Amino acid sequence: MKKLQLLAVGSLLALCLAGCSEKDEIDRKVDELLSKMTLREKIGQMHQVSGAGTHAEEAAAKGEVGSILNCVDPAEINAVQRAAVEQSRLGIPVIVGRDVIHGFRTIFPIPLGLAATFDPELVEQGARVAAIEATASGVHWTFSPMLDIARDSRWGRVAEGSGEDPYLDTQMGVAMVRGYQGDDFADPTSMAACIKHFVGYGAAEGGRDYNSTMISERSLRNTYFPAFKACVDAGALTLMTSFNEIDGIPSTGNDFLLKDVLRQEWGFDGMVVTDWNSSGEMVAHGFAKDLKHATELSVNAGVDMDMMSFGYISYIEELVKEGKIKEETIDNAVRNILKLKFRLGLFDNPYVDVDASARVDYAPEHLAAAKQSAVESAILLQNDNDVLPLDKARTILVTGPMADAPYDQLGTWAFDGQSEHTVTPLQALRECYEVIYEPGLAYSRDRDTKDFAKVRAAAQRADAAVVFVGEEAILSGEAHSLSSLNLQGAQSELIAEVRKSGKPVVVVVIAGRPLTIERDLANCDAMLYAFHPGTMGGEALADLIKGKAVPSGKSPMTFLRDAGQAPFYYNHNNTGRPCNGTETLLEDIPMKAGQTSLGCTSYYLDSGYGPLFPFGYGLSYTTFEYGNITLEKTALGKDDTIVVEFDLSNTGKRDGVEVVQLYTRDLVGSVVRPVKELRRFERVALAAGETKHIRMELPVAELAFWNRDMQYVVEPGDFQLWVAGDSASGEAYPFSVE
Ligand code: NOJ
Repeated sequence: MKKLQLLAVGSLLALCLAGCSEKDEIDRKVDELLSKMTLREKIGQMHQVSGAGTHAEEAAAKGEVGSILNCVDPAEINAVQRAAVEQSRLGIPVIVGRDVIHGFRTIFPIPLGLAATFDPELVEQGARVAAIEATASGVHWTFSPMLDIARDSRWGRVAEGSGEDPYLDTQMGVAMVRGYQGDDFADPTSMAACIKHFVGYGAAEGGRDYNSTMISERSLRNTYFPAFKACVDAGALTLMTSFNEIDGIPSTGNDFLLKDVLRQEWGFDGMVVTDWNSSGEMVAHGFAKDLKHATELSVNAGVDMDMMSFGYISYIEELVKEGKIKEETIDNAVRNILKLKFRLGLFDNPYVDVDASARVDYAPEHLAAAKQSAVESAILLQNDNDVLPLDKARTILVTGPMADAPYDQLGTWAFDGQSEHTVTPLQALRECYEVIYEPGLAYSRDRDTKDFAKVRAAAQRADAAVVFVGEEAILSGEAHSLSSLNLQGAQSELIAEVRKSGKPVVVVVIAGRPLTIERDLANCDAMLYAFHPGTMGGEALADLIKGKAVPSGKSPMTFLRDAGQAPFYYNHNNTGRPCNGTETLLEDIPMKAGQTSLGCTSYYLDSGYGPLFPFGYGLSYTTFEYGNITLEKTALGKDDTIVVEFDLSNTGKRDGVEVVQLYTRDLVGSVVRPVKELRRFERVALAAGETKHIRMELPVAELAFWNRDMQYVVEPGDFQLWVAGDSASGEAYPFSVE
């Protein structure tokens, strides 16, 4: 036994030494190369341009470009690479970046859908698939994961992240970093991750993209930083600054964020890139007087590479001569860039095999992973009278503009997914049912109801109707904010029309964000919320509808009744007048009611207090019960671990998977603490009738937060704990920390 232990220690040491010496070796190579570089060549490394072609090749041959983005043609990439490696004085390869956000060719559900799986292992697998496909086309670096906490569904980019919760965001972000980067950076299938957008971009005022944010340092630390910090710890190789300003300081010129926090506190030793022209945009913000000034601010704030402002390549030389930027600052930036290229093995393997992508794109195992992700990402929001699954129906009406929309079901940021590979719900359902297809509307914004009569007639001939509604891909993502979150066009009217048939109505929503679907729920028996499910979305949805698969997705964002409730998130602080469940709504207010007659609590007179569906919500085709919940200890010390045990039973007639969620609340703090915080989750598979004993552990240390004195501590006191199937259910169990 001792011998074994010694052996283990020995090999660990050897591994560490190998790792250390590899790191030293890279540092040595970087320094050696740096010592040979002219200032112009150094600046070239800090410059990134979009596209390949003659222009990029010429720049690469002169050593005046360090990276290209938005080219995925292996031959074109090799041409730029050849210019860099074979024609430039020092032969430094370029690094090729691309937005590989939820798959490269095989498109997975949008990241918000992936978050709904609560399945980090599957998400890691998906990121691995994306890396295998993207690197086969010559991409070395993806601008993903997006870690922006998003609490306002009006913001189009909620589609690209993991929603409103820091813990879920962290788990998903780390899974993606691991999947993209693999076990060995230098493996040809490893792709550098880029955690973005640092930071607070998702807090855009009013959900309007690029808008200002006002986030206190404490709130940055408690809510917006954790996922970034965890991904830095997980070895994320690069980070992107965000477009927004926080309290008047744009992120791209924010040395507190980039130097004090990222480099010094967290010890990030990767590379920092701007967002597209976010350095130049500091001029429009009114933070820099011109592009030269913006360049000075971003370089001095610690931003290593400039994406598309052209400020670095145009002005750094002058700024160094004028003494406004130290050459040492440039050396540090270039060190980070060269280190990245050495880590990825680009000096040894600069070229891509032009035939590789044909071997890996859309491989059967990639499609299978995409399908499983789409299955797990769908959330069952309603299922009156167990209408779903439609396992007895023979003839179904398939209608709605998203039933056969191969491009749109891929969602936002799916540049390289080819819609001819998409399996639509219509195609897949035709394999399981006699299908009568009447789209009713041509696209999601279509207001023309001329075909509704045909839909109504078709419904009469079917055993049940399935209505596919939602958003075209273009309605979510960057710069695609909305002020109304209702279904667009005449989609709600289409659902209402189908309802008139008296047949069972199933609605499937394929969209980039949680929409306000309350009135549509009233017009259907069952609703599956699928987000944009990607290439294999059709097969996944057909399996769920038919009952070959059982829904297990849980909402990664609060569903609102009305867009006017935004921002609305479960883990909010309490007001001094929290709503007590006795809200008086518009229709109940008597005429000439007195000013103080309404209870004076915090809610909307029209939409009340609660959400439509809380964070973490999702039904199954079976039901689950939590029983015998016990805490091993209810009085704990700071070094203890909270242990909660309970029995989880599948009380229905079908096998299913429950996402068990553990929440806590810190009742009194030196600063106000959220009313609930997700701390753990676990997917538990249970056969019909089965009961499993579940044990979950949570170190007390994880209850720490940035307190009034801006210290990261666990404050002693009373807490509550819940284990439940969503953020609004379950009973509170008290415990205390000494
Ligand atoms: C702008 C987006 O904000 C960012 O997320 C993306 O990675 C870059 N453009 C590059 O396309």
